Amino acid sequence: MLTGKRILLIIGGGIAAYKSLELIRGLTRAGALVTPVLTRAGSEFVTPLSVSALAGEKVYSDLWDLTDEAEMGHIQLSRVADLVVVAPATADLMAKMAAGLADDLASTLLLATDTPVLIAPAMNVRMWQHPATRRNLSALTGDGIAVVGPAVGDMACGEHGPGRMAEPADILAAVTARLSGGALSGRHLLITSGPTHEPIDPVRYIANRSSGAQGAAIARAALALGARVSFVTGPAAVAAPDGVEAIRVETAQQMLEAVTAALPADAAIFAAAVADWRVAGPSGSKIKKGQGGSPVLEFTENPDILAHVAGMAEGRPLLVVGFAAETDDVTANATAKRARKGCDWILANDVSPGSGIMGGAENAVTLITGDGAEDWPRAGKDAVAARLVARIAEALA
Ligand code: C5P
Repeated sequence: MLTGKRILLIIGGGIAAYKSLELIRGLTRAGALVTPVLTRAGSEFVTPLSVSALAGEKVYSDLWDLTDEAEMGHIQLSRVADLVVVAPATADLMAKMAAGLADDLASTLLLATDTPVLIAPAMNVRMWQHPATRRNLSALTGDGIAVVGPAVGDMACGEHGPGRMAEPADILAAVTARLSGGALSGRHLLITSGPTHEPIDPVRYIANRSSGAQGAAIARAALALGARVSFVTGPAAVAAPDGVEAIRVETAQQMLEAVTAALPADAAIFAAAVADWRVAGPSGSKIKKGQGGSPVLEFTENPDILAHVAGMAEGRPLLVVGFAAETDDVTANATAKRARKGCDWILANDVSPGSGIMGGAENAVTLITGDGAEDWPRAGKDAVAARLVARIAEALA
């Protein structure tokens, strides 16, 4: 699978470093050649001897090791790989990468490399949620660095939440996807995202609280697997990811037009929170106070974009995926919705108040397919997106 591929594996200083030993085994079993780099903090958690024994290669750790510089300079070391993997990527390493610091071997290699980089963040939940780490993460993804995880769960420090390093098997899957040319390369995915704005008059509109975070995460995951992505987005708080073909719209009607124009696609994922109704005949001028009491708004139904595409007799994408935001009886309602809309899959989530999902960083979903319902554990929206997109790649294969 990874035969002959060279991985430069940078092991940062966190308790999750013990999992990087299992990652080395997985990579070498898949045929990869692993060149390990251990930071000084990393060597507090795993020994250079165990790392080199598993990798079957010398461990590099010191920028100032003159023997290494004579054998292989740090610039050359940064370029020998097909992929640089940082696991665990600590908050400190991420901060250094985002700032472009180069004060040890690992950070120098990361600054000097011209090779794609994949990071597996691992840190305490508060550190992961800290605005500084959020800023660093968005700088790194903006720089084209791929991210796997973190997962949500119990942490070594006794707290619970997002911050656990992705499991070695998931990191291995992410490495394989990047190095195999991408399971979705040559495929076109159409993704809708964000809310719609339905005008009342030229200055007022009706909207909803969708942030567009889940749609953007799905787009990033699809890009990571090599897909071409058409991203039709309403006015969302979360920016369209770099690398997509972004088509910006405001209303449901515009979204339907943009979706139709972006077809054909191999798969279409409808993550947008489309307004079900729009104001019938919005006023052409600002509605003023004092014109015979409060205005009465009349509504008319918006086109159902998902149902429209799912029901296309010609040019229907091979796979049509909808979302169902439910507040009760999630599985039953979503199963009924799948049948009503005629789509292939529905990803259902509980958006009841208190779930923190709408506009939050996490999602707990149930996948409804023709084979039944599958509950997925609560995870970051990126992890949910990666899992969904991997399933789509499997279904299209
Ligand atoms: O009917 P409901 O709004 O719950 O359905 C949600 C799913 O349908 C989502 O996938 C959403 O993107 C899609 N949808 C749509 N057009 C609409 C309403 C919903 O594409 N007008």
